[in-house]
Amino acid sequence: MVEDSFVDERLLKKVPRWRNYLAAKLGFRNHWYPIMFSRELGENEVVSRKLMGEDILLKRIDGKVHAIRDRCLHRGVKFSEKVECYTRNTVTCWYHGFTYRWEDGTLCDIIASPNTPIIGKKAIHSYPVQEAKGLVFVFVGDADYEPHPLSQDVPPTFLDDTMEVHGSSYMVQSNWRLGCENGIDDLHIYLHRQSPLVPNTQRSLPLGHTDRPVDFFELHEEQGQPKGVSTRTFKDAAPMAYEGRVEGKIVVTGTKMHQTPEEAAKKRTTGHYICMPGVLRVDNFPFVGRFQFEWYVPITEDSHLYIITIGKPCANDEERAEHEHEFWHRWKPVSLEGFNNEDVFAREALQPFYEHDQNWLEETLVTEDNGIIMWRELCHRNGPSVQKPSDII
Ligand code: FES
Ligand SMILES: [Fe+2]
Repeated sequence: MVEDSFVDERLLKKVPRWRNYLAAKLGFRNHWYPIMFSRELGENEVVSRKLMGEDILLKRIDGKVHAIRDRCLHRGVKFSEKVECYTRNTVTCWYHGFTYRWEDGTLCDIIASPNTPIIGKKAIHSYPVQEAKGLVFVFVGDADYEPHPLSQDVPPTFLDDTMEVHGSSYMVQSNWRLGCENGIDDLHIYLHRQSPLVPNTQRSLPLGHTDRPVDFFELHEEQGQPKGVSTRTFKDAAPMAYEGRVEGKIVVTGTKMHQTPEEAAKKRTTGHYICMPGVLRVDNFPFVGRFQFEWYVPITEDSHLYIITIGKPCANDEERAEHEHEFWHRWKPVSLEGFNNEDVFAREALQPFYEHDQNWLEETLVTEDNGIIMWRELCHRNGPSVQKPSDII
């Protein structure tokens, strides 16, 4: 049961199978979230970021990133209003001089009141931080929860040694759950029918799917593994719709490349894998042999950070350099900003409807939306630690 929820209790009772998900406007605690790219934080630099409604201050010291709550213990002001670091290892509040260690948040000095007995006895929250694949991950967790390995919060293969990853991020004005649901929406391919990515990659793109076998999705809920939902790969792909009809007339057509079955099998997007706390892997996208890993990071109730990365297994420096060049000169303009920008448009258009909690019960879903429901239920079962208003005050 979610206590201290900021969603109406009567509403939550109506969706017993995905109650925690409905309550998780600001995400689930006890998970690793990417907060920024490593390249965005240089040595000795201090930056502030919001994550799940919490204000966080980050600094890189001797290469290592430290993260503390951006809120002074004394009177609650933000250090980031006017950052003062008299020594490399500390930050001082600009108001009365309470000074904290970056290492663990300990209150180590008070400039305006040096004999106060609380010195050395209090601390502000410091967050566990880990960098991987060019991203800075922060663990937002409860005091009594020992952080689990990052590998449990990313889709399989992301952390593989050979996986070379490059990406970019975008602030989207919608709740993070709408990002997840758009990402795994089996019918929204219709939205992308005119994307420049289609001619650029010479791929087929149907208008939608006409059927789904009941066992199309696979649940992953084993202990110590990422908790998620993936699509299965079938020898015979599920039927796709290429002709769009209204009143019996064909009004729109998808793009179907004429190719041999072998070529088709190679180019086909084979599926996706979404896992908590809101990260999706799309296989063979934007092109065969690439994996798109994208996060929908809760920032406020009505915004999320959309982090898009493209990974490619590379065997040597030459392949790595080639992939990096291809990311910046092909995938970023053609796919991130010529395909995924359509997803951003859709999520921001969903927001005015779903920001009213009761409207989550007013949708009219169809069988092909099953993947979305399975995702909501999985999050409910595996996400008791909903971020609560009391966590973010
Ligand atoms: S509010 Fe920070 S030192 Fe007083
Ligand atoms: Fe999309």
